[in-house]
Amino acid sequence: MSKKIHKVAAIGGDGIGVEVVDACLEVLDALAERDGGFEFQVENFDWSTERYKRTGEFMPKDGADQLRAFDAILFGAVGAPDVPDHLTLWGLRLAICQPLDQYANVRPTRVLPGIQSPLRHVNKDELDWVIVRENSEGEYAGQGGRSHPGLPLEIATDVSIFTRAGIERIMRFAFKLAQSRPRKFLTVVTKSNAQRHGMVLWDQIAAEVAKEFPDVTWDKMLVDAMTVRMVMNPASLDTIVATNLHADILSDLAAALSGSIGVAPTANLNPERETPSMFEPIHGSAFDITGKGVANPVATFWTAAMMMEHLGEKPAAARLMQAVETVTADPSLHTPDLGGKATTRMVTDAVIAAIRGRN
Ligand code: NAI
Ligand code: MG
Repeated sequence: MSKKIHKVAAIGGDGIGVEVVDACLEVLDALAERDGGFEFQVENFDWSTERYKRTGEFMPKDGADQLRAFDAILFGAVGAPDVPDHLTLWGLRLAICQPLDQYANVRPTRVLPGIQSPLRHVNKDELDWVIVRENSEGEYAGQGGRSHPGLPLEIATDVSIFTRAGIERIMRFAFKLAQSRPRKFLTVVTKSNAQRHGMVLWDQIAAEVAKEFPDVTWDKMLVDAMTVRMVMNPASLDTIVATNLHADILSDLAAALSGSIGVAPTANLNPERETPSMFEPIHGSAFDITGKGVANPVATFWTAAMMMEHLGEKPAAARLMQAVETVTADPSLHTPDLGGKATTRMVTDAVIAAIRGRN
């Protein structure tokens, strides 16, 4: 029988993004070798801030279109100390997510074995969430501008865009995801007391879509109160859906509560599979530790497990997560962000050994 081929575009980007993506490609090779039923065809892209400094562009003009030929995209991080963050984010990451309509950003959070949550007394079953971030509109739609530069009446606007179509599709995705999890429980986060148009539309559409999912229980939270609930009562949450900005912030909090931003994964999905989806760690390019060989690769390995699921390779995804959890359970394999002394190399080698079944 011929092997299934998965075409993966690898974009390390900047800083530790390159380090963790390189480590992840080694892990993917080991996974394919062990499985035997599929192989990866990986193409590496040097799209980055370094390329921007050299050519004036983070990626070619038809970059997003080039990616359509792939089954999935593995992304590191983009951002450099000497280029403004709004240029790097809009020049590469959003320049891929938006044209490829990866509208569902999915961020699972669990406390992995061996890792300590900063929340005292929380045991690992009490913090098991999936945050769904609306990934195409809201506060990051790109509408707005600046006028009268330098004058006292200089003005800058960022307009939050909320459409019925955009809210309905993310709400349906979130209810479906909640339905697929044992607790069948969804929390819809808004700020509909202060933001009285777009967020009220969110609440209204949540109630409409809920009728299609009678077996899913749901509740509503205002985003500020949600931060309190996440810290004080983590076991009361399961699946969570929120706008682009709100979920961006909540998911960094979630990552911290799970022990480190170095373990937190993300999938940017086009659920209809009209375009390739993109998988990345939540963290950025971390200039403070770039080149030191101590970046925690676990977030990228976990995101690769999500990629394997998406590609239909469920046993390989489960094997990878099991290998990751075997490794996190051993404190001598914790990188400095988790309070340990291990290097990216050590963690990567240990995960590969666990995949091969040698530990
Ligand atoms: P960051 O996530 O890069 O770093 C925050 C802190 O967490 C740093 O102390 C860093 O050392 C630590 N950290 C992050 N990932 C780690 C890992 N895998 N292992 C160990 N420690 C880790 O966020 P920061 O400092 O706000 O941003 C740095 C640059 O990255 C900026 O240019 C920012 O715009 C960009 N960025 C890019 C993202 C993306 O491409 N998706 C996401 C977040 C930030
Ligand atoms: Mg963020």
